[in-house]
Order: sequence, then structure tokens, then C-alpha cells
Amino acid sequence: MTTISTLSPDRLPAFLAAMPKAELHIHIEGSLEPELIFALAQRNGVQIPYASVEELRRAYAFSNLQSFLDIYYAGASVLLKEQDFFDMAWAYLLRAKADNVVHAEIFFDPQTHTARGVAMETVVNGLHRACLQAEAELGVSAALILCFLRHLSEEEAFETLEQALPFRDKFIGVGLDSSEVGHPPEKFAKVFARCRALGLHLVAHAGEEGPPAYVWTALDLLKVERIDHGVQSSKDPALMRRLAQDKIALTVCPLSNLKLCVFPKLADHNIGLLLDAGLVATVNSDDPAYFGGYMNENFLQTFAATGLNAAQAYQLAKNSFDASFIAASHKRKYIDLLDASVAAFV
Ligand code: HPA
Ligand code: ZN
Repeated sequence: MTTISTLSPDRLPAFLAAMPKAELHIHIEGSLEPELIFALAQRNGVQIPYASVEELRRAYAFSNLQSFLDIYYAGASVLLKEQDFFDMAWAYLLRAKADNVVHAEIFFDPQTHTARGVAMETVVNGLHRACLQAEAELGVSAALILCFLRHLSEEEAFETLEQALPFRDKFIGVGLDSSEVGHPPEKFAKVFARCRALGLHLVAHAGEEGPPAYVWTALDLLKVERIDHGVQSSKDPALMRRLAQDKIALTVCPLSNLKLCVFPKLADHNIGLLLDAGLVATVNSDDPAYFGGYMNENFLQTFAATGLNAAQAYQLAKNSFDASFIAASHKRKYIDLLDASVAAFV
């Protein structure tokens, strides 16, 4: 039995930082820091339309999802070689380790790269090598989830899947990301059915900017196991009941929601409401290089702004393991680790 509720409030920030956690919503291309963008641009002889790291960072003022995506895809244009993909993922995994992330399920966007003539093999092998090295050298387990870009066609998603199948053992599932409004989940029903038949795990971004209807169709037509973001679900009481009853996890990204103006202030974020409604909510960083923080920064700023308590911190960390795609025995091991960290704090 955990005694986390006895933790003194002044020790909460230290506990948030120290508690072991899983990250389930991180776009690896969104972990590309301006310094690495410039280093890779130079290494690969790629021109980027910014004079300095500072100028690039100043461009990170977003009004909505699309204004971010335009810069995010431009940043990814410096990635050409397998070593570039390795270096990007390794830098993320080192940061994850520093934040006591013990398990990460990492999104990648192959179409952003194959459209520029980079081979699928180059992308997958570079990222996968970093995941193997993280397990061996950092003790961080990591797995890849291939995302289809929803602003492109379902036919292009099928082509991407075909290109990826020779590397089937190097990714655990598929997701759906990019511009949400106007590209509902049902546009990808056939390709998700095929991925399901292949035994891949299924997730999709839904209810970030889009309506609760997109969360319903992600569940009922795509048959996803988790919803990425999903914060708009609170507008639909029947959907909230469905998510709670079926224990469908939401991979919530508070600093992303703040930077993309989904909520006007972090204090207005609905993560507490989602937890109070019994939903399996988790905290994640989404695109940490662009949104001003990795995992612990998301936890620290969200708790400071919303007044969430120590019991909710424990619940969020436990949810992250429960909602992950790791084997039950590994989940147990990680939750035991979490309980040990509680015991060390109270
Ligand atoms: N939403 C949709 N697509 C994305 C995101 C996001 O938050 N980050 C990277 N691609
Ligand atoms: Zn995302």
C-alpha cells in the first residue's frame, strides 16, 4: 500500500522529478534541438532559412497546431543519414534518462523523410539502433511507433506501410499525426484495419484541436488502444464515460497544449478534471525541443499551475506504465520501482 498522500507539499517537486515514469507521446523529430539542427545542417550541407540558433528559437512562437507543424517539418529537413537519426534519438534518450523516464514509446514520421528521398531503412535503422543502445547502456527501454501523416492520403499511408514491413520487428505499432481538423480518423480506416490484422498496436492523435467526434471514430472505426491528446473529450460526457469504462489511456501533453493555444493558460488545463473523472490520463512532452520542456518540466509546470497533488503524481506515473505496451511482468517491475521511490520520499 502506498502512503504517497502523506508527502509534504514542499517535497512534491523533488518527487515529480525523481519518480520513475514512462513517456508514451514523444515525436522524435520534435526532440531535435536548434543546436542539433544547425550541426546537422552543416554536416550535411543543407541550407536552412535561419541565420543562427537564436533566430531559429525566436521563430518558436505558435498560434495553433499548423503554425508549429510548418516549422517542425522544416527542422526535420536536415536529417539525411542513418547516423543523423541515431544522433537525434540518442540525444532524446539521454534527456529522458535524466528525467527518470525508464520506458519510452517513440513516434516517428517516415513520410517526412521518404518524401525527401531518404530511405525507410535509413530512418528505422538509425532510430532502432539508439533504442537498443538505450536499453544496454542507460537501462531505459524504448520502442518505436510509426505515424502516418493525416494530411496525406490513405493510399500514401498504405505505401508507407509496405515500405516499413521489411522492418516489422523494429516497430511495435502505428499512430496518426499532423494536421487534425479536416482529416478525421475515418480517412484511415482501411489502413488501420490492415495494421490491426498484422498485430501492430494502434494509437491516434484525436481531440487535440479536433472535436470529440474524432475521438469516437478513432475508438470505433480505427479501434485504437490509446488516444494521443484527447483533451477535447471533456466536452462530451458520454465520451468521458466511455473512456473511463474501457480504460482508454489519454497521452496528454500540457506544455504542447499551452504553446499551441489549446488552453489559454496552464492553470486552465483540464488534466485534473480528466483524472477526477477516472480516466487513465498520462503526462508527456510531445515535441519537447519546440514546446519548452521535457518530461519533468511538463510535470513541474503543470503541478505548479494547476495545484495537482502527490496522490495525482503517483496516479499519473502508474498510469504511464499501465497504458504502455510492455509485457505485464515488466509493468509490475516498473510499478514496484515507483513504489520504492515513494517509500524513499515519505
Ligand atoms: N499533433 C499533431 N501532429 C504532430 C504533433 C501534434 O502535437 N506533434 C508532431 N506532429
Ligand atoms: Zn503529438
